[in-house]
Order: sequence, then C-alpha cells, then structure tokens
Amino acid sequence: MARHAQGTFEAMWGDLAGIGRASAGGYRRFVWSDADMTLREWFVDQANARGMGVNEDRAGNLWAWWGDPTAGNAVVTGSHLDSVPSGGAFDGPLGVVSGFLAVDRLLAAGRMPDRPIAVVAFSDEEGGRYGIACGGSRLLTGVLPAEKALLLADDDGVTQRDALRRVGRDPAWFGADAEVLDVVGTFVELHVEQGRGLVDLDAPVGVASAIRGHGRWRFDLVGRPDHAGTTRLEDRDDPMLAQARLVLAAREAAQRHGAVATVGKIRVEPNAVNAIPSRVQAWVDARADDDETVRAVVADIAASVGVRASEESWTARVDFAPGLRDRLVTALDGVPVLPTGAGHDAGILASVGVPSAMLFVRNPSGVSHAPDEFAERDDCLAGVDALTTVLRDLAWE
Ligand code: GLV
Ligand code: MN
Ligand code: MN
Repeated sequence: MARHAQGTFEAMWGDLAGIGRASAGGYRRFVWSDADMTLREWFVDQANARGMGVNEDRAGNLWAWWGDPTAGNAVVTGSHLDSVPSGGAFDGPLGVVSGFLAVDRLLAAGRMPDRPIAVVAFSDEEGGRYGIACGGSRLLTGVLPAEKALLLADDDGVTQRDALRRVGRDPAWFGADAEVLDVVGTFVELHVEQGRGLVDLDAPVGVASAIRGHGRWRFDLVGRPDHAGTTRLEDRDDPMLAQARLVLAAREAAQRHGAVATVGKIRVEPNAVNAIPSRVQAWVDARADDDETVRAVVADIAASVGVRASEESWTARVDFAPGLRDRLVTALDGVPVLPTGAGHDAGILASVGVPSAMLFVRNPSGVSHAPDEFAERDDCLAGVDALTTVLRDLAWE
C-alpha cells in the first residue's frame, strides 16, 4: 500500500449526498448518466486514497484491489451506486461505503491478507434505465448477453450502445468477463434491509438466507386512438380500461397466491388528456417465495387481460449456501438470519456458483426504493464492524 487515508462514515456519506439528486425527491442515479459518472469518479478517488488499484471490467463494474487480483480466490465486498428513480440514499451506496471503511480498519492492522480483497461497485443494479435488474452482474457472468444489453433502449430511446459511446466506452468491448469473475473466491454484499425484519428482531445486523424469486413483465395493451369528446362510449376501444383491469388483476392474483405484484410504471401513447390512448404499456413486478408461484401470478394477470406478458427480467429464487452463511453467523456471534424480497448482485453471483453471502443493516421504517429509506448512523457503523469481522475471518487463514 503506497498510501493510506482512513475515511469516516460521515465524510464518505457527505461526499455522496449531493450526487444525482432527483427533482421529485431522493436520487436518480441511472447507469452511464452524469450522476453515475460522478459516482464512478468518487469510487476511483476512494480507491486511490487507500492505494488500491482500480479496474473497470468489460461489464462496466468497478473493482478496487488490495493485494494482487491475479493471485485468485479473492474476498470481494461491495454493492452498487446506481438507484431507482427517486430512490433512497442507502440502497447500494451503504455496501460500497462500508466496504471501503472495512478495508480501512483492516489496513490499519498492518498485516497483508492471505487472500486479495476487493471492493466492487456493480453497474446498473436497479435496471432503472434499461429495465433489466442487476445488469452489471448479469453481463459479467454472461447471464445477460452483450448483444441484448447493447440494444436495450431507455425511455428517451437512447440505446445502451449509444450511451456507452457517449461516456467513452467501446461497445465492442462490453460483455461477459470471465477473467475478472474467475478471481472472485467469495462475495459478501452488505445492504440496508428493505423491510422491518431486523426491527422486529431488535437486531442492528443480520445475515441473508434467501432472495425470493422475482421478475419484471411488460404488457402491451393496444386500442384505437380517437377523440375524447366526440367518440361514443360504445364505439371506443380504450386500452386504459384493460390497464385498470390489469392493476386489479395483479393485486388479486398476488393476494390469491400469497405473493406480491406491483404495477409501478406505465407508458401511455399519445398521453393526451383529450384523446383515447392508442396504446398503454404496463410493467408488472411480481415476487414470491417460490418461482412457480411468481409464474402463476403472471399467468393469472395475463389471462385476466387477454394479453401476453413479455418477460424483461427474471431472477430465480436464490438460497445462499448454508456453509458460508453459517460461517458469517458464527463470526458475528449468532446474528439473525432472514430472507428478502429484494434482488441483489449477490444473488446473481450465487446463481452462477460464486460462494456469496449478504449482511443486512437495520432500517427503522423498512421503507426502501423511496426518499425516506434510512438507517441510523450507529447501525451503519455496526454494519461496518460486522463486515470487518467477516472479511478478517475470510481473508486471513
Ligand atoms: C432491486 O433492488 C429490486 O429488488 O428490484
Ligand atoms: Mn434496490
Ligand atoms: Mn440494492
């Protein structure tokens, strides 16, 4: 290590606070946006301040290294810096900040780890711009083919291929990166909890057992555009009625199956007050304990509106390997173990066989993907303590 500056939680959090604020509240930190590029610069600065070497893999994920990555079997921590539209401050950045702070504490002990350690910032975890969750880890692992990722377009019609060119990345280089993935021996992602599990258990930190199956589907509801004032009700073919049925069907199917389903995004064309729409596109996010239940919910919704569901993103249920999970629990003196309904890059890595685990930090309200997302400072610091303990346990034999 050439240089070593100890960061503080407050200073790092303060650096991030002003980046990518959304006019509607919270943060809008979409992949390859100006905010994302500023966050990437911040990541590189943090790594440099610690004397860590940085590389960006072929999928756009950033890695900061303590030790020689080519030695392999690395212990990797981190999360993501992007957000949903009007997202909270903690979902993602807490894991990256905690990763650097844990490295600071381990560096201060003055002993090189037996395994290289990395902090990673996965790219495009929320899929806020292109609709596919965990875009960076899916690309890295080859779960999402580059040909498909490059053609995805945002709401303004800008393809990822064009967005990459605009930020000086070569689209031809974009894709899976086996060389980087192969050096990852273990991945531990720290994340703010996105529910009230730890509040109810009265614990600041927990370990993940599983991620519920979840996905995103688009429904294209087509009608006949016409005048809102002169078209008799019986002559209308109004797709907004199907949209209304779809929302209710999603709620009812979720209730019937013991799942959750959400219509959080619609696009109306032409989106005029005084015109019957020609088309409504509705996106359904459905999640359940098991994958079959998610499929059943989506099939029921499709049957209710008589329209095919186009799958845009799918993540099968992930049960984190009990061996690693229990090792974390033991290292942390028996913290609670709990599942989550939120998706994570740790789930993608686990699904391709990378030993992966997660730590959760208590969220007093449980609110997430919203400006009110929060964690108390003391709980965040308890998370850094826990992550430090886990990294020490894994990286020093
Ligand atoms: C990502 O956070 C998701 O669960 O959608
Ligand atoms: Mn999220
Ligand atoms: Mn997240």
